[in-house]
Amino acid sequence: MRLTRLGGSMASEEGWQMTLKAKSEVIRIGAEAIVSKLEWNGFKLVSKHRVPKPYRMPELDKWVRERRTLHEAKIISDLKKAGVPCPAVVLMDRDDSTLYIQFIEGSELKKALDELPPKLVESVARNLGEIVGRMHSNRIAHGDLTTSNILIDRNGKLYLIDFGLSAVTDDLEELAVDIHLLDRSLESAHHPLREKFMKNFLKGYSSIMGRDFTLRIIEKVKEIRRRGRYVEERRRRS
Ligand SMILES: Nc1ncnc2c1ncn2[C@@H]1O[C@H](COP(=O)(O)OP(=O)(O)O)[C@@H](O)[C@H]1O
Ligand SMILES: [Mg+2]
Repeated sequence: MRLTRLGGSMASEEGWQMTLKAKSEVIRIGAEAIVSKLEWNGFKLVSKHRVPKPYRMPELDKWVRERRTLHEAKIISDLKKAGVPCPAVVLMDRDDSTLYIQFIEGSELKKALDELPPKLVESVARNLGEIVGRMHSNRIAHGDLTTSNILIDRNGKLYLIDFGLSAVTDDLEELAVDIHLLDRSLESAHHPLREKFMKNFLKGYSSIMGRDFTLRIIEKVKEIRRRGRYVEERRRRS
């Protein structure tokens, strides 16, 4: 196994792998990755292991998984430098396409939102807007910005996770998709809060990205929504 700490390399030791994998508990088996919680020398970590796909040629498969693992680690490290809160990548096992990431003690925003007091919902939404604004001002689109990919800890601090679909981009539409997906995830899970949440989100976003850019991106989000509706309509009719 080849363990790499970001920013430097570590000697490989079989023993580490044993410790890393000894107490792991699966959190989620996704289409692309298995996410587990584990303890390593007293630190709580999550591992994100990209699983082999039998339909891909083995060599290509290994290359794809390794490339996506590296991509996610690189984006997280760039975002941390830019002051966007996301859990740190502690170790990377390139050969096994696995990232070991700081475990955040908290819950998915999706689960927490309904129980938050109304005043807190406003400040969380505004804060999220600032965070996403900071990410976008660094030309990074998250790619899957739903309330399951935002964690909130006990102090109300937010973290963005899951950068497998992220991209470095200058395309307004790619950035607008983030806001569209966030809005959609609120619409499906927390309908009564959606309007207030998005209003405050956009206040925070605009404080970072400026009023003009925010108005332009809102127009783009509306356009994406219209197109989505049109596609759904046609699907229903056919
Ligand atoms: N650093 C973390 N700390 C705590 N929980 C996490 C962390 N990373 C992921 N999780 C949990 O695991 C779930 C799946 O992880 P995620 O990176 O979103 O993978 P997937 O691609 O399967 O959605 C998250 O929705 C969250 O509940
Ligand atoms: Mg996810």
